[in-house]
Amino acid sequence: MIRLALLILLIVCPGRAGAQDQAAPQDRARGLELWSRIHQVFSHPRCANCHVGTDRVPMWSGPEYGSTPRPHGMNISAKGGDNGSNYLACTTCHTTHNLDTPHGPPGALDWELPGPERQWFGKSSAEVCKQFRDPKLRNIESIDAVVRHIKTDARVAWGWEPGPERKKPPYSVNELAGFIRQWDKAGAPCPAE
Ligand code: HEC
Ligand code: HEC
Repeated sequence: MIRLALLILLIVCPGRAGAQDQAAPQDRARGLELWSRIHQVFSHPRCANCHVGTDRVPMWSGPEYGSTPRPHGMNISAKGGDNGSNYLACTTCHTTHNLDTPHGPPGALDWELPGPERQWFGKSSAEVCKQFRDPKLRNIESIDAVVRHIKTDARVAWGWEPGPERKKPPYSVNELAGFIRQWDKAGAPCPAE
């Protein structure tokens, strides 16, 4: 009898395992709409210019930099770390705050590149989504911690205070944090390729 009850429970409540992309259709549609808003922010130049890949070269993209995106000027590269001959520490120019002059180096605490596994620049929405929803590919494991990062990280906050003549991403920090939480609750769906 107890075993039967357990079996019924298991069938009725399959749990969250494998919930990703198996959400009810209305949750999936809502989740995809939330993802598209999240992606509008992640792919915005203020975020994507730092979230670059294995070449370790930050980008200068967005209307502030002309019509074509280009690699950061002055041969800046984070390849080779502190010992690399081509490496000039980011904080040589990027301090903890913006300069008041347009085109001066912007600044926020710990101005540095994220690891290449968090590349957003040049990737499709589907690719960024799949990488972001996988806790093994994210370095920040839980969604709670991601939301905390969004709300407290100085570099994220800088996106909405980018200094003179730089455009801000859409929405606000708190709205973005809310979208991420609701998208996760809706089963974290990702668009098809
Ligand atoms: C100055 C460079 C820089 C800018 C600009 C920047 N980030 Fe990041 N971002 C980082 C670094 C470095 C990390 C890794 C932090 C860590 O692990 O402690 C990171 C990590 C993240 C993560 C965790 C991702 C994961 O997969 O683990 C999110 C989310 C994030 N950033 C959001 C943003 C958003 C949104 C913006 C724009 C508003 C932005 N970032 C702009 C440097 C930057
Ligand atoms: C020699 C000084 C210098 C160094 C070193 C430097 N930068 Fe920059 N960086 C600048 C200047 C100046 C700008 C703004 C250029 C402009 O607005 O035309 C800039 C802009 C940027 C932007 C674009 C911000 C935006 O969205 O408008 C990013 C991202 C960036 N730097 C990241 C880095 C990282 C990461 C490093 C270290 C690997 C680094 N920079 C090293 C001077 C420097």
